[in-house]
Amino acid sequence: MSFSILGTGKAVPEYVLTNDELSTMVETSDEWISTRTGIKRRHICKSETITELCIKASNEAMQNAGVSAKDLDLIICATLRGEYITPSQACVIQKELGATCPAFDINAACSGFIYALDVADGFFARGRVKKVLVIALDNLSNIVDWKDRNTCVLFGDGGGAAVLGEGDGLKYVEITAKGDTSVLQCPHGENTSPFYEHPSKPPYLYMNGPEVYKFAVVSMVRGIRNAIRKAGLTEEEIDWVIPHQANIRIIETAVSKLKIPSERFIRTISEYGNTSGGSCAIALADSVEKGLFKKGDNIVFCAFGAGLTTGSCVITWDKD
Ligand code: UT7
Repeated sequence: MSFSILGTGKAVPEYVLTNDELSTMVETSDEWISTRTGIKRRHICKSETITELCIKASNEAMQNAGVSAKDLDLIICATLRGEYITPSQACVIQKELGATCPAFDINAACSGFIYALDVADGFFARGRVKKVLVIALDNLSNIVDWKDRNTCVLFGDGGGAAVLGEGDGLKYVEITAKGDTSVLQCPHGENTSPFYEHPSKPPYLYMNGPEVYKFAVVSMVRGIRNAIRKAGLTEEEIDWVIPHQANIRIIETAVSKLKIPSERFIRTISEYGNTSGGSCAIALADSVEKGLFKKGDNIVFCAFGAGLTTGSCVITWDKD
């Protein structure tokens, strides 16, 4: 027994930061950002906390699933930086929702949503749970160097949630990791111990864009192909692709290499930028909101990110 998705939700901050506004902050332009990345705007936290966004997405997902907090057997939050170092963001969410189940975080950066689905699958397989809440949400504006045009134009805040229930929707899921700290990392910042001997680095996101780009393109095509094959399907049988939204050019390269029509790839990057772990979860909730999926549709997800991690899975939509 695995799971089916019973309901989805999303939350992004109200404030919209446009490329034009960014162009007043660093030396960049709407033209550069649009053509190199496909991003037009992103939502950035001003008054909202990450917890408020997590609760909004969770409540929406639970309402759409017809499930209340007391029904939850497990909460998994995929985030690379919650409200606190400890407790976990999932425990903060549990408290705010009034749930009583176990709760923990997963840090797999942009692949976090798919990592969380894989972990949830194990709990269903062992018969330990009937209802699981997965939240994938990041607040990258908090760790971006707003003076670095190489990174600050790329990211946005927000994410989504999904309530999972016993079912056969998940057809295949796979996660990978290739330990690497050189091309994508964010240090903790100052170590306040009087005993610690190593220098501290500023707590900003550092990325070697072109190197990550190469990893991303290979991972995306390989991950999608592999997940489809392992699910016992062919590319022709795939109805929708939900790719990690890091750069529209990465998505278009995948389109050119796969036998899946371009219009079947969900693209949300122009509106939200790269929201890290939140990206696939937002794209899922957006698609459900728009009524894109019908019962029996095969949806393939694929993400990649810091770690370097990847995740891919195939889910058959089994809601009317
Ligand atoms: O989700 C986590 C995973 N992250 C990703 O998947 C991101 C993958 N990487 C990428 O999407 C792309 O590598 C970027 C969008 C980050 C960069 O695009 P690129 O085509 O690889 O550009 P580049 O880094 O090679 O830079 C090209 C030029 C440079 O100028 P010079 O050296 O050629 O004179 C940069 O300094 O563009 C310059 N540049 C900018 N110019 C205007 C870099 N950022 C900007 C900017 N505005 N914001």
